[in-house]
Amino acid sequence: MGLFCFFVLLLFHSLNFTSAASNEDVVKKLLLQFKQSSVQSDPHGLTCSEGHVITLDLSYSGLIGSHHLPTLTALPSLQNLYLQGNSFSASDLSVSNISTCCLVTVDLSSNNITSPLPVRSFLEGCENLALVNLSGNSIPGGSFSFGASLLQLDISRNLISDSSLLTCQNLNLLNVSGYKLTGKQSDSILSCKNLTTLDLSYNALSGEIPNTILESGSASLKYLDLSSNNFTGKFASLDFGQCSSLTLLKLSHNNLYGDEFPSSLANCQALETLNLTSNKLQDKIPGALLGNLNKLRQLFLGRNQFSGEIPAELGKACGTLQELDISDNILTGELPSSFVSCSSLVSLNLGRNQLSGNFLSTVVSKLPSLRYLYVPFNNITGPVPPSITNGTRLQVLDLSANLFTGNVPSVFCFSNAPSALEKILLANNFLSGTVPSELGNCKSLKAIDLSFNS
Ligand SMILES: *[C@@H]1O[C@H](CO)[C@@H](O)[C@H](O)[C@H]1NC(C)=O
Ligand SMILES: *[C@@H]1O[C@H](CO)[C@@H](O)[C@H](O)[C@H]1NC(C)=O
Ligand SMILES: *[C@@H]1O[C@H](CO)[C@@H](O)[C@H](O)[C@H]1NC(C)=O
Ligand SMILES: *[C@@H]1O[C@H](CO)[C@@H](O)[C@H](O)[C@H]1NC(C)=O
Ligand SMILES: *[C@@H]1O[C@H](CO)[C@@H](O)[C@H](O)[C@H]1NC(C)=O
Ligand SMILES: *[C@@H]1O[C@H](CO)[C@@H](O)[C@H](O)[C@H]1NC(C)=O
Ligand SMILES: *[C@@H]1O[C@H](CO)[C@@H](O)[C@H](O)[C@H]1NC(C)=O
Ligand SMILES: *[C@@H]1O[C@H](CO)[C@@H](O)[C@H](O)[C@H]1NC(C)=O
Ligand SMILES: *[C@@H]1O[C@H](CO)[C@@H](O)[C@H](O)[C@H]1NC(C)=O
Repeated sequence: MGLFCFFVLLLFHSLNFTSAASNEDVVKKLLLQFKQSSVQSDPHGLTCSEGHVITLDLSYSGLIGSHHLPTLTALPSLQNLYLQGNSFSASDLSVSNISTCCLVTVDLSSNNITSPLPVRSFLEGCENLALVNLSGNSIPGGSFSFGASLLQLDISRNLISDSSLLTCQNLNLLNVSGYKLTGKQSDSILSCKNLTTLDLSYNALSGEIPNTILESGSASLKYLDLSSNNFTGKFASLDFGQCSSLTLLKLSHNNLYGDEFPSSLANCQALETLNLTSNKLQDKIPGALLGNLNKLRQLFLGRNQFSGEIPAELGKACGTLQELDISDNILTGELPSSFVSCSSLVSLNLGRNQLSGNFLSTVVSKLPSLRYLYVPFNNITGPVPPSITNGTRLQVLDLSANLFTGNVPSVFCFSNAPSALEKILLANNFLSGTVPSELGNCKSLKAIDLSFNS
């Protein structure tokens, strides 16, 4: 039969149209070209499934609506339609005559859709439609049922305030971030069973996080972002019954509280990112629980009320850990010596606690991958250990607002080794002496702050 696939990628970025009329002409010309090329390359006539892929990319082309969209779907083999950053509006989406439609991907993000989506849209006849991106419009509501083929729906950054408009269907990605959702209306979304990615961040959802998704739906869930809402309740009450696929869990910027973590979090063995920043969690950091999450790469526990010492067991997560932020808590004592095994750690933020002791030289200076070290506003005394930049790969060293005494160390960078050090922040300590001339070895240095020392 001699089917051959062809791929046309049209980039139109540089054109800058001024009137709707000229847009119309350009699109018509384009359509003509497409029709001709389709006909030439396949004299047998096309159906959606014949392996032809045409991608039409008219992103940021200054297009202003009126009838283009239905016309475009009349292209027999158009599968991917990228119209990001134009000025199409809701009325351009409605259509009375549905023709054959082979579209798989439609990107209408960052357009001018400011009224409710029409009940009958030009996408209605598209039986293969898998991805619709309407992100970054100002859609206030309307019809969001796109047929059973749809797998990914991105309607982030719009103005919809009613989650009951959304239907799960077979969706595996749903992005509802940056909406106007308020109150306790997350239940319906959180019971979507086939989701692998759910982003509900930046809304004003409140009440307790319903356990529905975590219990039953979560078998397939990989990415769950509920950050920057107004969820409350005891963190320990959440039930991570089946979270074996979960790689990202973001609950930051909510009002979760309590002095314990849910023990079922131990089921989430695939977890790579755990973000609990800015809640009201207290008491000890559960080191044993977190230290047993063997894939953890990013752990963010900042801006809570954790107290006591940093648990030594947390160092067990160190094989994989790349970023650790436990800043802005009430932690005391030292960074335990178990952390010397943190060979992958790139960024360590311990700022705004009450840490003390000489862990900078005994532990931190032995972290070979470390680039970003933030330990401001703690209770560390004694001289700044010169070894801190020897053995690490520091770009940023922030030790401001501690109780350091002695001279400003003369050796931050070594003449025989390339240094990446860009920022040295030592303000608000009790250091004395002069700015060392050896700083000339720090070829990348952009800022040094020694203010408010003695
Ligand atoms: C966006 O839509 C509004 C009303 O729907 C209209 O007044 C405005 O001219 C449109 N803007 C552009 C750039 O098309
Ligand atoms: C609808 O489609 C029919 C048949 O394809 C055509 O004759 C008619 O003009 C179309 N109507 C509109 C409003 O496009
Ligand atoms: C939707 O488009 C935005 C840019 O406008 C992009 O950041 C986002 O990743 C897209 N969503 C999906 C699911 O492809
Ligand atoms: C969910 O996915 C499964 C398998 O991937 C599929 O059989 C099922 O129809 C999908 N939809 C729902 C609503 O479960
Ligand atoms: C959801 O959309 C927001 C805003 O458009 C974006 O920043 C975020 O990365 C998206 N989430 C996912 C999982 O793609
Ligand atoms: C968040 O919830 C608290 C009660 O839990 C309420 O007092 C507050 O107004 C809510 N804030 C927002 C932005 O909805
Ligand atoms: C964790 O959450 C905080 C607060 O929302 C945010 O600033 C930070 O970028 C998040 N980190 C990651 C890796 O998501
Ligand atoms: C840390 O320093 C602050 C202010 O100097 C002080 O109030 C606090 O008691 C100190 N904490 C510890 C554990 O030394
Ligand atoms: C830097 O490290 C090397 C090798 O580990 C060591 O020989 C040297 O004494 C160290 N210098 C300082 C100032 O710590």
